[in-house]
Amino acid sequence: MEKNLQAIVEEAAKNLDSVANRADWDNVKATILGPNGSLTQIAKGIGGIPKEDRPAFGQALNRTKKEIEEIFKSSLTSIEQKADLEALGTEVDPTLPPPANFTGGTHPLTNTRRKMVSIFRKIGFTVAEATEAETEWFCFDALNTPEDHPARDEQDTLFFTPEAKWNNIKQKKEEAYVLRTHTSSVQIRSLLREKPPLRIIAPGRCFRRDTVDATHSANFHQTEGLYVDRKVTIKDLKGVLDFFLKELFGDQVETRLRPSFFPFTEPSFEVDLRAPNIGKLSDQWIEIMGCGMVDPKVLGLVELDPEEWTGFAFGIGIERVAMILHGIDDIRHFYNNDFRFLTQLNQPT
Ligand code: PHE
Repeated sequence: MEKNLQAIVEEAAKNLDSVANRADWDNVKATILGPNGSLTQIAKGIGGIPKEDRPAFGQALNRTKKEIEEIFKSSLTSIEQKADLEALGTEVDPTLPPPANFTGGTHPLTNTRRKMVSIFRKIGFTVAEATEAETEWFCFDALNTPEDHPARDEQDTLFFTPEAKWNNIKQKKEEAYVLRTHTSSVQIRSLLREKPPLRIIAPGRCFRRDTVDATHSANFHQTEGLYVDRKVTIKDLKGVLDFFLKELFGDQVETRLRPSFFPFTEPSFEVDLRAPNIGKLSDQWIEIMGCGMVDPKVLGLVELDPEEWTGFAFGIGIERVAMILHGIDDIRHFYNNDFRFLTQLNQPT
């Protein structure tokens, strides 16, 4: 009998070894301690045992039962622990404090764009939008850009042919579509939509066939500005840009206009910037944006009389502003989605 009891203990331990879940554990338990279990069967045999041997039999039975229950208990604990760890994932260290309640945030370029837009709103500019896919006419022809201009080269611009024609586009001739290379196309769309006086700011995405490096990206952002009214002069242009750049980079900013060329402005300028309070701007001028007086030919193309209306336009890269504001040395950080970079600049600028 003792031998039988020992065999049952061994059987219990052996069968529990391969048990991985609670249901299998219950099954093994039933084969030993259930109504038809092996230990229960032996216990039922007490009637056939001589009276004098019964106390010893009972004691042996209880000892075995206790031993077996211990084995089952510890087996169940280890099954449950394993299941808990699995539910948590093996990489989780449950002793670490819980993560902060991080709800996400806005991208550094969004923050910079908002900051730029809010400055122009203060002086009466409203936001205008247009499509990122453009016809060549809006992107180049209407902006007085000749057919053989290098910007129109397939090496510089992403061309494509749309599957369906967009009926709502006022197209002057049959032509290919481009991904807009600058936001200047919004100048034309706004002037066709609305009669001057007009004061718009048009932030958005642009595309060029650039090889990606620390300062170039095939996908980037600009903000266009356009001001058309009666008697607008270069003084207004300089005044608006000075105000904007001082609000953006601080009162100590110095600006200068340097002659340049754009097909759609005449005269055209680059704006340079120097600011003793900003790292690398403290001891050198750096170029920040292009601008100029709207070319009378452009006004003529949108059927405005250049004798009555004058205006200025400007274009500025949003990445460039964000890089100066935050001392970022590589444009690719904006698109890599490295969580450390994004969370570092998460506060609205
Ligand atoms: N579109 C020009 C560029 O992308 C910038 C610009 C805008 C210049 C408006 C003059 C006026 O370089």
